[in-house]
Amino acid sequence: MKSFLATAFVLLSGFTLLADAHISFRYPCPRRGAYSECPQPGPGQWEMIDYDIRSPIGTHGNIVSPMCKHPSSFDGTRPVFAAGQTYQANMDIGAYHKGGSCQWTLSYDNGTTWVVIQDNLLTCMADASNGVQYKMPFKIPAGAPSGKAILNLMWNNNEGNRELYSSCADVVISGTNGGSLSGVAPLIANYGPNSPFIQEQALAGGDYGQAYFAARKPITVTVPATPAKRSLFGRRHN
Ligand SMILES: *[C@@H]1O[C@H](CO)[C@@H](O)[C@H](O)[C@H]1NC(C)=O
Repeated sequence: MKSFLATAFVLLSGFTLLADAHISFRYPCPRRGAYSECPQPGPGQWEMIDYDIRSPIGTHGNIVSPMCKHPSSFDGTRPVFAAGQTYQANMDIGAYHKGGSCQWTLSYDNGTTWVVIQDNLLTCMADASNGVQYKMPFKIPAGAPSGKAILNLMWNNNEGNRELYSSCADVVISGTNGGSLSGVAPLIANYGPNSPFIQEQALAGGDYGQAYFAARKPITVTVPATPAKRSLFGRRHN
């Protein structure tokens, strides 16, 4: 009996876990995810691993986590993405919710401001399925300045609870030394009662929040040039 109950509990918690699990980056590595190929916790950081990395950051009723979920990654090497190039992200999909709207955004100031670099509205991950890894291309804009940045995939699902997801990877952009990046600031919908509300797409007769996406405000961020090494370290004595 005891082992039957134990089995039932394991099955039940497995089910709960599955029901809670939706989507995350797997490549590039999401902050503090549990993927073996990603940066690992240092000594004393094991409790910081996020085994629920695929869960949303909030619903329209409730903010659960801050944007990006975590303030930083474990120490490790950041992937370098070149301006003008296209890369394949690998998504870890628990539940795909009939897809949704993706806004790919970059921040050069540690998450204070975000610029949308790519939209995949309405059909983002719509041809995925539950429990798969799924490849999606994203392009770093030509002319993007060099620097450490956060790549944040924001996703509003088409079906199910009205949620916002934010999957963040710490990356390095290789582009121009100093410059600016222009685009629109992302729509942050279904993230607490004060945010815009996007209905389930089927229930809304196809409306996926077009008017909100269309009303996003232009934004330009500026990244200062990195001085040549000589000026950082002073004159060489040799
Ligand atoms: C970035 O912001 C987070 C808070 O969101 C903070 O904990 C962290 O120290 C900041 N990182 C840097 C490099 O400033």
